[in-house]
Amino acid sequence: MNHLIAPSILTADLLNLRSEIEMINQSQADWLHLDIMDGVFVPNISFGFPLIEQIARVSTKPLDVHLMIVNPSNYVERFRECGADRLGIHLEADIHLHRTVNLIKKLGMNACVVINPHTSIFLLEDILPEIDQVLVMSVNPGFGGQKFIENSYEKISRLKDLILKKSCEVLIEVDGGVNRENAPRLVKAGADVLVVGNAIFASANPLQAISELKSF
Ligand code: DX5
Ligand code: ZN
Repeated sequence: MNHLIAPSILTADLLNLRSEIEMINQSQADWLHLDIMDGVFVPNISFGFPLIEQIARVSTKPLDVHLMIVNPSNYVERFRECGADRLGIHLEADIHLHRTVNLIKKLGMNACVVINPHTSIFLLEDILPEIDQVLVMSVNPGFGGQKFIENSYEKISRLKDLILKKSCEVLIEVDGGVNRENAPRLVKAGADVLVVGNAIFASANPLQAISELKSF
């Protein structure tokens, strides 16, 4: 399969969010990635339900929602009501991950498990058959525009081997510091979905940046 691009609007011009979303609608991007931070799980606070609801009305791309919050299971239904299509919860944030993953699927969303840079892929072994997607963090979550962690290539290829060994149909998504330079090597290592913030929204021509990230 060709790799997918999921722009993260964390570093977009939030006062002109409608036109940023319309730009993404017209682009070759596949999903729209929304980063939800609670100031507890990560040392930053982003945005919540009212904004997501409004984004869902304007976006023509599926909403890929990345929860960086404690107690994510408390809010799964609320994110569904807001228009999330794919919901990612951190393995480190939920001690009953299996239950939450099944709730996400029961509500008709795709289930994604997110792992921090220090978290071993082997902790995913028993949840892989239940999920649609793994999100590998290639920075410590909390902020856009951080430096890519080089160990992520090797981590992704080990995860790809594990997924193949277990014959699961699970997409690998990578998030943090992704750009036109490291994207081809990430896809070669096994990444299916590239989340990209700064390399799109800080560029002089975001549409072209998306097109270049899509076409290699
Ligand atoms: C970081 C977020 C990312 C971030 C990506 O915690 O999960 O989605 O916005 O932005 P860049 O591509 O700028 O690292
Ligand atoms: Zn993210």
